[in-house]
Amino acid sequence: MVNGPNLNLLGTREPEIYGVETLADLEERVRKRSTELNLDLVAYHSNHEGEIIDFLHEQGPGAVGLIINPAAFTHYSYAIRDAIVAVGLRAVEVHISNIHEREPFRGRSVIAPVCVTQISGKGIGGYIEAINIIAQDEQGK
Ligand code: DQA
Repeated sequence: MVNGPNLNLLGTREPEIYGVETLADLEERVRKRSTELNLDLVAYHSNHEGEIIDFLHEQGPGAVGLIINPAAFTHYSYAIRDAIVAVGLRAVEVHISNIHEREPFRGRSVIAPVCVTQISGKGIGGYIEAINIIAQDEQGK
């Protein structure tokens, strides 16, 4: 699981948009669900595009899937998009807020076309939905 820039500030960052739970709370909730699903979760956060790409290169080849909230990189990082394709990851894109009901620039994702699906506006529950999708895909293989 990858969380991009500014998501380390969850809990204090615009709580009216992103809620009051912290990144640690989020990771704990996803980890709990991953244990129930027998999946081994690697939770990663970075504010830096290149570090996210390095992480995908390192962890991607052995991974069953990727949950990614690219944060603002969603809207313009062709490099992260290319990395997902390069390592052949089955990715689910997650946004805490509903990016389709905010500023127009947020409605466009350059990452979504290389993902299985995009989940937007469901808060932290969106990450749980994402890991459920990855687990289902894994079982269906
Ligand atoms: C976000 C939405 C993005 O537009 C924004 O830049 C973020 C968070 C979300 O989770 O709702 O940082 O990805």
